[in-house]
Amino acid sequence: MRARRWSVAAGALCLVLVASGCGGGGGDRVEVFSWWTGGGEEAALNALIERFEAENPDVEFVNAAVAGGSGTNARAVLEGRLQSHDPPDSFQGHAGAELQDYIERGYLSPLDDFFQEQGLYDALPERLVEQITYDGSVYSVPVNIHRSNVMWYSPAVLEEAGIDALPQNPEELVEALETVAEETDAVPMAVGAQWTVDHLLESVLLGSLGTDAYNALWEPGADWDTPGVAAALATFDQVVEHTQEASATEDWQEAARRVADGEAAFNIMGDWAAGYFDELGAVPGEDYGWVASPGTEGTYLWLSDSFTLPVGAPNEEAALTWLALVGSREGQDVFNPLKGSIPAREDADPAEYADSPYLESALAEWQAGPELAGSFWHGVTVGDRWRNDVDTAVGLYLGDGDLKALQNTLVRAARVE
Ligand code: GAL
Repeated sequence: MRARRWSVAAGALCLVLVASGCGGGGGDRVEVFSWWTGGGEEAALNALIERFEAENPDVEFVNAAVAGGSGTNARAVLEGRLQSHDPPDSFQGHAGAELQDYIERGYLSPLDDFFQEQGLYDALPERLVEQITYDGSVYSVPVNIHRSNVMWYSPAVLEEAGIDALPQNPEELVEALETVAEETDAVPMAVGAQWTVDHLLESVLLGSLGTDAYNALWEPGADWDTPGVAAALATFDQVVEHTQEASATEDWQEAARRVADGEAAFNIMGDWAAGYFDELGAVPGEDYGWVASPGTEGTYLWLSDSFTLPVGAPNEEAALTWLALVGSREGQDVFNPLKGSIPAREDADPAEYADSPYLESALAEWQAGPELAGSFWHGVTVGDRWRNDVDTAVGLYLGDGDLKALQNTLVRAARVE
Protein backbone atom coordinates (compact mmCIF):
# COMPACT_ATOMS: atom_id res chain seq x y z
CA MET A 1 0.00 0.00 0.00
CA ARG A 2 2.83 2.36 0.87
CA ALA A 3 4.65 1.61 -2.37
CA ARG A 4 1.44 2.33 -4.25
CA ARG A 5 1.03 5.72 -2.63
CA TRP A 6 4.57 6.59 -3.49
CA SER A 7 4.19 5.72 -7.13
CA VAL A 8 0.94 7.69 -7.40
CA ALA A 9 2.79 10.67 -5.99
CA ALA A 10 5.63 10.11 -8.45
CA GLY A 11 3.10 10.08 -11.26
CA ALA A 12 1.68 13.34 -10.05
CA LEU A 13 5.13 14.89 -9.97
CA CYS A 14 5.65 13.75 -13.51
CA LEU A 15 2.34 15.39 -14.42
CA VAL A 16 3.59 18.66 -13.04
CA LEU A 17 6.65 18.29 -15.24
CA VAL A 18 4.51 17.51 -18.26
CA ALA A 19 2.30 20.50 -17.58
CA SER A 20 5.32 22.73 -17.35
CA GLY A 21 6.53 21.58 -20.74
CA CYS A 22 9.25 19.20 -19.53
CA GLY A 23 7.74 16.39 -21.60
CA GLY A 24 7.82 12.67 -20.92
CA GLY A 25 5.01 10.59 -19.47
CA GLY A 26 6.93 8.77 -16.80
CA GLY A 27 6.96 5.38 -18.54
CA ASP A 28 7.66 4.23 -22.05
CA ARG A 29 4.30 2.77 -22.89
CA VAL A 30 0.71 3.01 -21.87
CA GLU A 31 -1.97 0.50 -22.81
CA VAL A 32 -5.51 1.85 -22.79
CA PHE A 33 -8.50 -0.45 -23.11
CA SER A 34 -11.93 0.49 -24.45
CA TRP A 35 -14.47 -0.62 -27.07
CA TRP A 36 -14.26 2.45 -29.19
CA THR A 37 -13.37 1.04 -32.56
CA GLY A 38 -16.42 1.89 -34.64
CA GLY A 39 -17.93 4.88 -36.39
CA GLY A 40 -17.81 8.07 -34.34
CA GLU A 41 -16.22 6.45 -31.32
CA GLU A 42 -12.85 5.63 -32.84
CA ALA A 43 -12.41 9.16 -34.18
CA ALA A 44 -12.98 10.64 -30.74
CA LEU A 45 -10.55 8.23 -29.09
CA ASN A 46 -7.98 8.88 -31.80
CA ALA A 47 -8.19 12.62 -31.24
CA LEU A 48 -7.37 12.08 -27.59
CA ILE A 49 -4.55 9.67 -28.44
CA GLU A 50 -3.05 12.18 -30.86
CA ARG A 51 -3.04 14.81 -28.15
CA PHE A 52 -1.44 12.38 -25.73
CA GLU A 53 1.25 11.42 -28.20
CA ALA A 54 2.02 15.05 -29.04
CA GLU A 55 2.47 15.83 -25.36
CA ASN A 56 4.35 12.61 -24.56
CA PRO A 57 6.52 11.73 -27.56
CA ASP A 58 8.52 9.22 -25.53
CA VAL A 59 5.55 7.13 -24.47
CA GLU A 60 4.29 4.45 -26.81
CA PHE A 61 0.51 4.48 -26.86
CA VAL A 62 -1.06 1.03 -27.17
CA ASN A 63 -4.70 1.19 -28.15
CA ALA A 64 -6.19 -2.06 -26.85
CA ALA A 65 -9.76 -1.36 -27.98
CA VAL A 66 -11.95 -4.42 -28.64
CA ALA A 67 -14.84 -3.99 -31.11
CA GLY A 68 -18.50 -4.26 -30.15
CA GLY A 69 -20.96 -1.53 -29.17
CA SER A 70 -21.53 -0.92 -25.46
CA GLY A 71 -18.58 -3.16 -24.67
CA THR A 72 -20.40 -6.46 -25.15
CA ASN A 73 -17.23 -8.23 -26.31
CA ALA A 74 -14.68 -5.93 -24.71
CA ARG A 75 -15.95 -6.39 -21.20
CA ALA A 76 -15.60 -10.18 -21.40
CA VAL A 77 -12.01 -9.84 -22.63
CA LEU A 78 -11.30 -7.30 -19.90
CA GLU A 79 -12.74 -9.55 -17.20
CA GLY A 80 -10.40 -12.35 -18.29
CA ARG A 81 -7.42 -10.04 -18.10
CA LEU A 82 -8.37 -8.64 -14.71
CA GLN A 83 -8.93 -12.11 -13.30
CA SER A 84 -5.55 -13.28 -14.51
CA HIS A 85 -3.78 -10.21 -13.11
CA ASP A 86 -2.90 -8.91 -16.54
CA PRO A 87 -4.61 -5.50 -16.50
CA PRO A 88 -4.15 -2.79 -19.08
CA ASP A 89 -2.77 0.50 -17.73
CA SER A 90 -6.20 2.07 -17.90
CA PHE A 91 -9.61 0.89 -19.02
CA GLN A 92 -12.86 2.55 -19.85
CA GLY A 93 -15.87 1.74 -17.72
CA HIS A 94 -19.01 3.46 -16.51
CA ALA A 95 -19.50 5.61 -13.47
CA GLY A 96 -21.99 4.07 -11.05
CA ALA A 97 -22.77 0.47 -10.14
CA GLU A 98 -20.55 -1.04 -12.84
CA LEU A 99 -17.53 0.71 -11.36
CA GLN A 100 -18.51 -0.44 -7.87
CA ASP A 101 -18.39 -4.04 -9.07
CA TYR A 102 -14.79 -3.58 -10.16
CA ILE A 103 -13.89 -1.84 -6.91
CA GLU A 104 -15.47 -4.53 -4.76
CA ARG A 105 -13.47 -7.18 -6.57
CA GLY A 106 -10.28 -5.29 -5.79
CA TYR A 107 -9.46 -4.43 -9.39
CA LEU A 108 -9.07 -0.67 -9.04
CA SER A 109 -6.70 1.72 -7.32
CA PRO A 110 -8.11 4.78 -5.55
CA LEU A 111 -7.31 8.15 -7.08
CA ASP A 112 -7.86 10.52 -4.16
CA ASP A 113 -4.47 12.27 -4.25
CA PHE A 114 -4.63 12.52 -8.01
CA PHE A 115 -8.09 14.13 -7.80
CA GLN A 116 -6.76 16.72 -5.34
CA GLU A 117 -3.74 17.50 -7.46
CA GLN A 118 -5.74 17.79 -10.64
CA GLY A 119 -8.49 19.88 -9.04
CA LEU A 120 -11.07 17.33 -10.14
CA TYR A 121 -13.19 17.59 -7.02
CA ASP A 122 -13.95 21.18 -8.02
CA ALA A 123 -14.20 20.60 -11.75
CA LEU A 124 -16.72 17.74 -11.67
CA PRO A 125 -20.35 17.93 -10.54
CA GLU A 126 -20.81 16.66 -7.01
CA ARG A 127 -23.49 14.17 -8.05
CA LEU A 128 -21.08 12.64 -10.54
CA VAL A 129 -18.27 12.39 -7.98
CA GLU A 130 -20.72 10.45 -5.78
CA GLN A 131 -21.08 7.88 -8.56
CA ILE A 132 -17.34 7.17 -8.62
CA THR A 133 -16.86 7.16 -4.86
CA TYR A 134 -16.68 4.02 -2.77
CA ASP A 135 -15.98 4.02 0.94
CA GLY A 136 -14.86 7.63 0.79
CA SER A 137 -12.39 7.20 -2.10
CA VAL A 138 -12.74 8.06 -5.77
CA TYR A 139 -11.87 5.45 -8.38
CA SER A 140 -12.11 6.77 -11.91
CA VAL A 141 -11.88 9.82 -14.13
CA PRO A 142 -15.11 10.62 -15.98
CA VAL A 143 -14.56 12.06 -19.43
CA ASN A 144 -18.14 12.80 -20.42
CA ILE A 145 -21.86 12.61 -19.93
CA HIS A 146 -23.83 10.69 -22.54
CA ARG A 147 -27.58 10.70 -22.90
CA SER A 148 -29.27 7.37 -23.46
CA ASN A 149 -32.85 8.54 -24.09
CA VAL A 150 -32.56 10.15 -27.48
CA MET A 151 -34.92 9.24 -30.30
CA TRP A 152 -33.39 9.91 -33.69
CA TYR A 153 -35.78 10.19 -36.59
CA SER A 154 -35.83 10.53 -40.33
CA PRO A 155 -37.73 13.69 -41.38
CA ALA A 156 -38.11 12.20 -44.87
CA VAL A 157 -39.77 9.00 -43.67
CA LEU A 158 -42.06 10.87 -41.29
CA GLU A 159 -43.12 13.15 -44.12
CA GLU A 160 -43.81 10.21 -46.37
CA ALA A 161 -45.89 8.64 -43.61
CA GLY A 162 -47.81 11.90 -43.12
CA ILE A 163 -46.68 12.25 -39.49
CA ASP A 164 -46.40 15.93 -38.74
CA ALA A 165 -46.17 15.88 -34.94
CA LEU A 166 -43.56 13.87 -33.08
CA PRO A 167 -44.91 11.35 -30.58
CA GLN A 168 -44.97 12.78 -27.06
CA ASN A 169 -45.53 9.61 -25.08
CA PRO A 170 -45.12 5.86 -25.55
CA GLU A 171 -48.73 5.38 -26.74
CA GLU A 172 -48.26 8.01 -29.44
CA LEU A 173 -45.00 6.34 -30.37
CA VAL A 174 -46.80 3.06 -30.98
CA GLU A 175 -49.38 4.88 -33.16
CA ALA A 176 -46.59 6.53 -35.14
CA LEU A 177 -44.86 3.17 -35.66
CA GLU A 178 -48.12 1.70 -36.95
CA THR A 179 -48.54 4.60 -39.35
CA VAL A 180 -45.00 4.21 -40.68
CA ALA A 181 -45.63 0.49 -41.20
CA GLU A 182 -48.88 1.19 -43.08
CA GLU A 183 -47.74 4.13 -45.18
CA THR A 184 -44.09 3.40 -46.06
CA ASP A 185 -41.61 0.60 -46.71
CA ALA A 186 -39.26 1.93 -44.05
CA VAL A 187 -38.41 0.06 -40.85
CA PRO A 188 -40.50 1.81 -38.18
CA MET A 189 -37.98 1.38 -35.31
CA ALA A 190 -34.44 0.33 -36.17
CA VAL A 191 -32.45 -1.85 -33.79
CA GLY A 192 -29.14 -3.67 -34.05
CA ALA A 193 -27.55 -6.31 -31.84
CA GLN A 194 -29.47 -7.54 -28.78
CA TRP A 195 -27.94 -4.93 -26.50
CA THR A 196 -29.65 -2.19 -28.53
CA VAL A 197 -32.96 -3.75 -27.47
CA ASP A 198 -31.86 -3.59 -23.81
CA HIS A 199 -31.09 0.03 -24.53
CA LEU A 200 -34.54 0.54 -26.04
CA LEU A 201 -36.10 -1.09 -22.97
CA GLU A 202 -34.69 1.49 -20.57
CA SER A 203 -36.12 4.38 -22.55
CA VAL A 204 -39.54 2.73 -22.81
CA LEU A 205 -39.59 1.99 -19.06
CA LEU A 206 -38.63 5.58 -18.29
CA GLY A 207 -41.19 7.00 -20.72
CA SER A 208 -44.00 4.79 -19.45
CA LEU A 209 -43.34 4.93 -15.72
CA GLY A 210 -41.85 8.40 -15.22
CA THR A 211 -38.54 9.32 -13.65
CA ASP A 212 -39.19 8.48 -9.98
CA ALA A 213 -40.79 5.12 -10.67
CA TYR A 214 -38.04 4.26 -13.18
CA ASN A 215 -35.32 5.09 -10.67
CA ALA A 216 -37.12 3.08 -7.98
CA LEU A 217 -37.05 0.00 -10.23
CA TRP A 218 -33.32 -0.35 -9.69
CA GLU A 219 -33.32 -0.13 -5.92
CA PRO A 220 -32.41 -3.46 -4.28
CA GLY A 221 -35.54 -5.54 -3.80
CA ALA A 222 -37.64 -3.32 -6.08
CA ASP A 223 -41.10 -4.57 -6.98
CA TRP A 224 -41.42 -5.25 -10.69
CA ASP A 225 -44.63 -7.20 -10.20
CA THR A 226 -46.89 -4.19 -10.66
CA PRO A 227 -49.55 -3.21 -13.21
CA GLY A 228 -47.36 -0.20 -14.11
CA VAL A 229 -44.46 -2.44 -15.13
CA ALA A 230 -46.85 -4.78 -16.97
CA ALA A 231 -48.21 -1.82 -18.95
CA ALA A 232 -44.71 -0.53 -19.72
CA LEU A 233 -43.66 -3.97 -20.95
CA ALA A 234 -46.80 -4.24 -23.08
CA THR A 235 -45.79 -0.98 -24.75
CA PHE A 236 -42.25 -2.29 -25.15
CA ASP A 237 -43.71 -5.37 -26.83
CA GLN A 238 -45.61 -3.20 -29.30
CA VAL A 239 -42.49 -1.18 -30.07
CA VAL A 240 -40.42 -4.34 -30.58
CA GLU A 241 -43.08 -5.61 -32.97
CA HIS A 242 -42.17 -2.73 -35.25
CA THR A 243 -38.43 -3.36 -35.31
CA GLN A 244 -36.57 -5.44 -37.78
CA GLU A 245 -35.11 -8.54 -36.17
CA ALA A 246 -32.28 -7.83 -33.72
CA SER A 247 -29.15 -9.01 -35.43
CA ALA A 248 -25.87 -9.82 -33.76
CA THR A 249 -24.01 -8.83 -36.91
CA GLU A 250 -25.47 -5.33 -37.02
CA ASP A 251 -24.32 -3.01 -34.31
CA TRP A 252 -25.81 0.33 -33.32
CA GLN A 253 -24.10 2.17 -36.18
CA GLU A 254 -26.10 0.23 -38.73
CA ALA A 255 -29.36 1.01 -36.95
CA ALA A 256 -28.50 4.72 -36.77
CA ARG A 257 -27.38 4.75 -40.39
CA ARG A 258 -30.78 3.44 -41.45
CA VAL A 259 -32.34 6.59 -40.02
CA ALA A 260 -29.86 8.95 -41.66
CA ASP A 261 -30.36 7.19 -45.00
CA GLY A 262 -34.14 7.24 -44.78
CA GLU A 263 -34.42 3.46 -44.45
CA ALA A 264 -35.93 3.67 -40.97
CA ALA A 265 -38.21 6.16 -39.23
CA PHE A 266 -36.83 5.99 -35.69
CA ASN A 267 -33.94 4.70 -33.61
CA ILE A 268 -33.67 5.11 -29.85
CA MET A 269 -29.95 5.25 -29.21
CA GLY A 270 -27.49 7.12 -27.03
CA ASP A 271 -26.02 10.32 -28.32
CA TRP A 272 -22.83 8.62 -29.50
CA ALA A 273 -25.03 8.42 -32.62
CA ALA A 274 -24.54 12.20 -33.00
CA GLY A 275 -20.79 11.64 -33.42
CA TYR A 276 -21.47 8.94 -35.98
CA PHE A 277 -23.93 11.07 -37.96
CA ASP A 278 -21.27 13.78 -38.20
CA GLU A 279 -18.79 11.24 -39.44
CA LEU A 280 -21.28 10.06 -42.07
CA GLY A 281 -21.72 13.65 -43.20
CA ALA A 282 -25.45 13.49 -42.39
CA VAL A 283 -27.03 16.93 -42.06
CA PRO A 284 -28.80 17.62 -38.76
CA GLY A 285 -32.38 18.74 -39.26
CA GLU A 286 -32.40 17.39 -42.82
CA ASP A 287 -31.12 13.84 -42.80
CA TYR A 288 -32.00 13.27 -39.17
CA GLY A 289 -33.69 14.95 -36.26
CA TRP A 290 -33.83 14.13 -32.56
CA VAL A 291 -36.11 14.43 -29.59
CA ALA A 292 -36.15 12.97 -26.08
CA SER A 293 -37.57 9.45 -26.35
CA PRO A 294 -41.36 9.68 -25.94
CA GLY A 295 -42.50 10.47 -22.41
CA THR A 296 -39.00 11.37 -21.16
CA GLU A 297 -38.82 15.06 -22.01
CA GLY A 298 -36.97 16.97 -19.27
CA THR A 299 -35.14 13.88 -17.97
CA TYR A 300 -31.56 13.04 -18.78
CA LEU A 301 -31.16 9.26 -18.79
CA TRP A 302 -27.47 9.59 -18.24
CA LEU A 303 -24.25 7.62 -18.22
CA SER A 304 -20.62 8.57 -18.00
CA ASP A 305 -17.55 7.03 -19.62
CA SER A 306 -14.89 6.87 -17.01
CA PHE A 307 -11.24 5.79 -17.11
CA THR A 308 -9.61 3.82 -14.30
CA LEU A 309 -6.25 2.91 -12.83
CA PRO A 310 -6.26 -0.88 -12.39
CA VAL A 311 -4.38 -2.45 -9.49
CA GLY A 312 -1.10 -3.74 -10.91
CA ALA A 313 -1.14 -1.47 -13.96
CA PRO A 314 2.30 -2.12 -15.47
CA ASN A 315 2.92 1.53 -16.35
CA GLU A 316 1.24 3.42 -13.60
CA GLU A 317 2.97 6.73 -14.14
CA ALA A 318 2.10 6.84 -17.82
CA ALA A 319 -1.44 5.77 -16.91
CA LEU A 320 -1.72 8.78 -14.60
CA THR A 321 -0.49 11.01 -17.40
CA TRP A 322 -3.29 9.57 -19.57
CA LEU A 323 -5.83 10.10 -16.79
CA ALA A 324 -4.68 13.69 -16.38
CA LEU A 325 -5.41 14.33 -20.05
CA VAL A 326 -8.79 12.55 -19.84
CA GLY A 327 -9.77 14.67 -16.85
CA SER A 328 -8.51 17.96 -18.23
CA ARG A 329 -10.66 20.59 -19.84
CA GLU A 330 -8.47 20.44 -22.92
CA GLY A 331 -8.79 16.65 -23.21
CA GLN A 332 -12.55 16.69 -22.71
CA ASP A 333 -13.03 19.41 -25.29
CA VAL A 334 -10.97 17.47 -27.84
CA PHE A 335 -12.80 14.21 -27.24
CA ASN A 336 -16.44 15.04 -26.62
CA PRO A 337 -17.40 17.08 -29.70
CA LEU A 338 -16.40 14.05 -31.81
CA LYS A 339 -17.90 11.49 -29.44
CA GLY A 340 -21.35 13.09 -29.33
CA SER A 341 -21.14 13.65 -25.59
CA ILE A 342 -20.95 16.66 -23.35
CA PRO A 343 -18.03 17.16 -20.97
CA ALA A 344 -18.10 15.79 -17.44
CA ARG A 345 -16.29 18.93 -16.27
CA GLU A 346 -18.36 21.97 -15.50
CA ASP A 347 -15.87 24.45 -16.94
CA ALA A 348 -15.74 23.19 -20.53
CA ASP A 349 -15.82 25.71 -23.34
CA PRO A 350 -19.37 25.84 -24.82
CA ALA A 351 -17.91 27.20 -28.07
CA GLU A 352 -16.36 23.77 -28.72
CA TYR A 353 -19.86 22.29 -28.86
CA ALA A 354 -21.58 25.04 -30.82
CA ASP A 355 -20.83 23.51 -34.23
CA SER A 356 -23.14 20.64 -33.46
CA PRO A 357 -26.78 21.65 -33.04
CA TYR A 358 -27.36 18.42 -31.13
CA LEU A 359 -24.52 18.98 -28.66
CA GLU A 360 -25.38 22.62 -28.21
CA SER A 361 -28.89 21.65 -27.16
CA ALA A 362 -27.67 18.77 -24.98
CA LEU A 363 -25.22 21.00 -23.14
CA ALA A 364 -27.85 23.67 -22.55
CA GLU A 365 -30.29 21.09 -21.27
CA TRP A 366 -27.70 19.52 -18.96
CA GLN A 367 -26.65 22.88 -17.58
CA ALA A 368 -30.27 23.80 -16.88
CA GLY A 369 -30.36 20.94 -14.33
CA PRO A 370 -32.70 18.30 -15.77
CA GLU A 371 -34.22 15.48 -13.79
CA LEU A 372 -31.82 12.56 -13.70
CA ALA A 373 -32.34 8.88 -14.32
CA GLY A 374 -29.46 6.42 -14.48
CA SER A 375 -28.94 4.12 -17.45
CA PHE A 376 -29.16 0.51 -16.35
CA TRP A 377 -27.61 -0.91 -19.50
CA HIS A 378 -24.65 1.45 -19.42
CA GLY A 379 -23.68 0.68 -15.87
CA VAL A 380 -25.19 3.42 -13.72
CA THR A 381 -27.97 1.83 -11.69
CA VAL A 382 -27.10 -1.84 -11.36
CA GLY A 383 -24.06 -4.08 -11.37
CA ASP A 384 -23.33 -6.85 -13.80
CA ARG A 385 -25.36 -9.62 -12.15
CA TRP A 386 -28.68 -7.78 -12.44
CA ARG A 387 -27.81 -6.24 -15.79
CA ASN A 388 -26.94 -9.63 -17.25
CA ASP A 389 -30.16 -11.13 -15.88
CA VAL A 390 -32.15 -8.46 -17.71
CA ASP A 391 -30.17 -9.11 -20.88
CA THR A 392 -30.86 -12.84 -20.65
CA ALA A 393 -34.57 -12.15 -20.10
CA VAL A 394 -34.66 -9.84 -23.12
CA GLY A 395 -32.85 -12.44 -25.23
CA LEU A 396 -35.40 -15.12 -24.30
CA TYR A 397 -38.25 -12.76 -24.98
CA LEU A 398 -36.85 -11.89 -28.41
CA GLY A 399 -36.85 -15.60 -29.13
CA ASP A 400 -40.27 -16.59 -27.82
CA GLY A 401 -42.20 -13.30 -27.52
CA ASP A 402 -43.48 -14.36 -24.10
CA LEU A 403 -44.20 -11.09 -22.35
CA LYS A 404 -45.42 -12.61 -19.10
CA ALA A 405 -42.23 -14.68 -18.84
CA LEU A 406 -40.24 -11.50 -19.45
CA GLN A 407 -41.93 -9.76 -16.55
CA ASN A 408 -41.56 -12.80 -14.26
CA THR A 409 -37.85 -12.98 -14.95
CA LEU A 410 -37.44 -9.28 -14.34
CA VAL A 411 -39.36 -9.62 -11.06
CA ARG A 412 -36.96 -12.37 -9.95
CA ALA A 413 -33.88 -10.46 -11.14
CA ALA A 414 -34.83 -7.59 -8.84
CA ARG A 415 -35.32 -9.87 -5.83
CA VAL A 416 -31.99 -11.67 -5.88
CA GLU A 417 -29.23 -9.64 -4.24
C1 GAL B 1 -21.66 2.85 -24.17
C2 GAL B 1 -20.53 3.81 -23.95
C3 GAL B 1 -20.54 4.83 -25.02
C4 GAL B 1 -20.61 4.19 -26.37
C5 GAL B 1 -21.69 3.13 -26.46
C6 GAL B 1 -21.75 2.40 -27.76
O1 GAL B 1 -21.69 1.85 -23.18
O2 GAL B 1 -20.69 4.42 -22.72
O3 GAL B 1 -19.39 5.63 -24.93
O4 GAL B 1 -19.38 3.67 -26.64
O5 GAL B 1 -21.55 2.23 -25.42
O6 GAL B 1 -20.62 1.66 -28.01
